[in-house]
Amino acid sequence: MAQPPLTDYEKYIRTEELLALQKPREALSCHDEMQFQVVHQVAELWMKLCEHELMFATVRMREGDAPRALRALERVKRIQALLVEQLDIIDTMSPRDYMTIRNALGRGSGQESPGFRRMLQLPDEVWPGFEALLSARRVTLRQIYEQPDQHGELFNVAEALLDVDQALQGWRQRHLLLVYRQIGAGTPSLKGKPSELLAEGMKHRFFPKLWEIRDELFAEWTKTHPYGAEKGFHG
Ligand code: HEM
Repeated sequence: MAQPPLTDYEKYIRTEELLALQKPREALSCHDEMQFQVVHQVAELWMKLCEHELMFATVRMREGDAPRALRALERVKRIQALLVEQLDIIDTMSPRDYMTIRNALGRGSGQESPGFRRMLQLPDEVWPGFEALLSARRVTLRQIYEQPDQHGELFNVAEALLDVDQALQGWRQRHLLLVYRQIGAGTPSLKGKPSELLAEGMKHRFFPKLWEIRDELFAEWTKTHPYGAEKGFHG
């Protein structure tokens, strides 16, 4: 039977190609493999969009357009929330099914995800854009955090970058829980011991200067705090 012509929607979204990217039902190693493949594919698309927005935000910062950069960073934050939330779907899979899928995966590992690799590199490309914005406004990071209300716009950009960092760390934490839930904490993965490998990654800060400035300022502020010097600020 002749296929009806593609609708404009199908042509624009390219549904034909998109929906041909999953294993056909008869080739699935088990029922749950469809969700496993779809969740990973969707994640790659969201990370592609994150990259697009982060590069855009970087150029806007270089041009001094903080409000437009902020709007793009707000979008990144919402995409990152979806990336974390969609891991919940995988929680509905049994370890038994994951084992079946893993056999079909060969030596494939999430570590090879091109989207995530870009997410790991991007902060180093974004940061110089933020520094260019600061120097164009002749303001230092320290001044922003000392007097956030006097540098409201730049403070908001700095905090939006920190949100990106925090969400990347949050994704790693959530993913580690997923790993524990599926394969346990001690099972060696294809690349070694996941707990060690992934826990190491969780120590990474993507915009280290945004974390360091807190240490720097609190060290100073607590020096003059009545209890700070001897007991520590929380003591
Ligand atoms: C059954 C669910 C999953 C299991 C058991 C699992 C397991 C693992 C393990 C053991 C690693 C460490 C590297 C390795 O040994 O291969 C890893 C890394 C990774 N996985 Fe998964 N994963 C799962 C689901 C996902 C999903 C749904 C995504 C993406 C949406 C994902 C993306 C990644 C990424 C990006 C890494 C590298 C992480 C980093 O460098 O911090 N994984 N995964």
